[in-house]
Amino acid sequence: MSKRRRVAKNSDGGIEAQAYEPVGAAEELFYTHEREVLLAGPAGTGKTRAALEKMFLCMQKYSSMRCLLARKTRVSLTQSALVTLEEKVLPAGHSISRGATRGRRTGYVLENGSELVLGGLDNADRVMSSEYDMILACEATELTLSDWEKLLTRLRHGIMPYHQAVAECNPSHPGHWLNVRANAGLMRRLVSRHEDNPIFFDRQTGLYTLAGQTYRATLERLSGVRRKRLLDGLWAAPEGLVYETFADHIISGSGADEKEFDNAPLACAGLDWGWRDPTAVVVGVLRPDQRLYVVEEFYARRLPLDELAEKIAALLKRWNVERCFADRSRPDLIDHVRRHDAPCEMAPLASIAAGISVVESRLMADKLKIYSSCHHLIQEASEYQYAADESQKAGAAVQPGSDHAMDALRYMLTGMEIMMPSDPAGNSQDPNLPPDAAPSRDAHGRTFVDVWGR
Ligand SMILES: Nc1ncnc2c1ncn2[C@@H]1O[C@H](COP(=O)(O)OP(=O)(O)OP(=O)(O)O)[C@@H](O)[C@H]1O
Ligand SMILES: [Mg+2]
Repeated sequence: MSKRRRVAKNSDGGIEAQAYEPVGAAEELFYTHEREVLLAGPAGTGKTRAALEKMFLCMQKYSSMRCLLARKTRVSLTQSALVTLEEKVLPAGHSISRGATRGRRTGYVLENGSELVLGGLDNADRVMSSEYDMILACEATELTLSDWEKLLTRLRHGIMPYHQAVAECNPSHPGHWLNVRANAGLMRRLVSRHEDNPIFFDRQTGLYTLAGQTYRATLERLSGVRRKRLLDGLWAAPEGLVYETFADHIISGSGADEKEFDNAPLACAGLDWGWRDPTAVVVGVLRPDQRLYVVEEFYARRLPLDELAEKIAALLKRWNVERCFADRSRPDLIDHVRRHDAPCEMAPLASIAAGISVVESRLMADKLKIYSSCHHLIQEASEYQYAADESQKAGAAVQPGSDHAMDALRYMLTGMEIMMPSDPAGNSQDPNLPPDAAPSRDAHGRTFVDVWGR
């Protein structure tokens, strides 16, 4: 695709207006025909501008094509990408930006019949009711994997010679599904840098411009993980994470899509109750490769008790879960799930430290895998930190925060540890667990060792 030269109408803080010319990752974006592209990098490198410029160029080049410009919410699009689109990308005074105000617009139509639809995943039905040649998801780390997969199903308009979905964003935590998907080779990864933005970097001199120096100085004042992501462009985890290697154990996709789990010999679950806080359930399936795969999660707030119990029971039955280990605080709720003919029992009495060490030893032995569709579990793990006070670390004091799926994971694994005291990972029973915890038996009266051997 030939690069487009057009005089921009703005001057970007005193810097001379210039033709848009894509540089670095932006240039690669212009030429790639890959179906899924991840354009990520620090703040202000020109990601949104590049993706919008390519989209507008394709609209002009391919008559009657359709593209979708989406963000998690339609409202958030108004103040971000739409400003760049109307003020920088569309030629000044272009007829397509006349009419409705930015907030009320539903799209733009060019004279050649090409159409740009605006949408938020908060109103997915409207977005999904159509087909597109090209999709641009802005600030794509806000989207879930399921949002993205739904968008991909709409990529079938067939006017352009190729279909393309571009996700543009600043990096997030390393276990984010976008990073995992790109690592798995399912998306073409383009790494955007400040050197790609001519406003910030002068390629002739090889030096940052004054605007670039000032902007980077602002980013340098950021601390911790925000600095790593927005200045250095790294998919970085915060300091003091409880499960430092969690992100390395995430696999791209959804456990529900994997046929090989259909006849899995053993499935367990962990459950943490909540009302104002979410109720979280995680389901793990043990495979003959001796790894436990977290295949699905359930996460919901303020559901009426009966509906909650019914939904949990349906999830447990769907996976043929043999044992579900639940938070001990609400025995009445355990009964409720049982009344729906699903297994549910109290998780073993074990300290948070003991639970963490059980999870950690599975991670260290590479015996735990998590599907990237388990969005809340992964998000919580990316923020699950020890309290700053080192003296508390021995007691495994974790910072207060969102840890509901984290608790459910602990309940599942401590439950399994006691039920299966000599698991195939070769881990002996955790010393922090109650010494008298006897090996549990499954529905056929077998211990784990009977089933899997040592
Ligand atoms: N090749 C270019 N030529 C001229 N101006 C550019 C170019 N690339 C980016 N810019 C300008 O640089 C500014 C930042 O660009 P943009 O908003 O696309 O960055 P971003 O990477 O999306 O930032 P953020 O990470 O904050 O979302 C905008 O004013 C944009 O118009
Ligand atoms: Mg942007």
